[in-house]
Amino acid sequence: MEVLDRLDAYFPNADLDLMGSDLHQRARAMCGRLEAANSERYRSIRQEIQRGVCPDTFVQLLQRSEAENPARGNSYDYLDESISGVLQFDEPTDAPVHSGPEMVFYQPTPARHIFALIAAAGISESDVLVDLGSGLGHVPMVVSICTGARAIGVEVEPSYVACSRQCAERLNLSRVSFLEADARVADFSIGMVFYLYTPFSGSILRAVMDSLREQAAVRPIRICTFGPCTTAIAEESWLEAVTTREADQITVFLSRA
Ligand SMILES: C[S@@+](CC[C@H](N)C(=O)[O-])C[C@H]1O[C@@H](n2cnc3c(N)ncnc32)[C@H](O)[C@@H]1O
Repeated sequence: MEVLDRLDAYFPNADLDLMGSDLHQRARAMCGRLEAANSERYRSIRQEIQRGVCPDTFVQLLQRSEAENPARGNSYDYLDESISGVLQFDEPTDAPVHSGPEMVFYQPTPARHIFALIAAAGISESDVLVDLGSGLGHVPMVVSICTGARAIGVEVEPSYVACSRQCAERLNLSRVSFLEADARVADFSIGMVFYLYTPFSGSILRAVMDSLREQAAVRPIRICTFGPCTTAIAEESWLEAVTTREADQITVFLSRA
């Protein structure tokens, strides 16, 4: 992936001066070979997932997350490219239909933080994860692939939900589902771990936190956050942070008894 990035930077397709030179042709040929190798690797990892196996690569990424925190921040790296290659998301063709000052547009959690989420929250097969504002659904999918947990994405945009469902279906992820709903009216009664990558703010966040507090009154729940919503959620007196509370890392909160 690193070599491909460099080749792309040094030999852009649009660079007409170099087009046709021997060096340019060799670089393009090398790109072709590396891209073919990546595609083959993604195909074999997909087949493992389709058979219900957690690929070794994912196990190793999880072990690394258990040993050390990933790089902070919301930048993307080679891992995001790899996860996209493996999961093969569809791009929504329809423009988003829901927007408003308190609703945050789609931006995926960088893949390294999804592995950190699983490690920090100690998610296991018996858990039910709910991703509030799940976008194209890669958080529920990676969590379920790695742990066997049931994982549900709640997303208000119909086109994102349609793409997520197709992607999960092609991977045979029977324990992953997507609910097309506004998080304010979703049923949280089976959730045990709730994840928010700053999907909304203000009165929407307030309403959702009140619903989650009602759930916490009847059973313990874990709330995991990433991004600026961490600061607002850290103010909730019924929650206790069990990791460092940093907006650019995963934070895990437990509900108080
Ligand atoms: C920052 S993205 C996070 C996506 C995903 N959770 C992830 O981490 O990769 C926020 C998502 O929340 C969705 N969203 C915003 N307001 C919502 C609401 N009221 N109910 C459900 N989803 C909402 C947006 O459409 C968007 O897909």
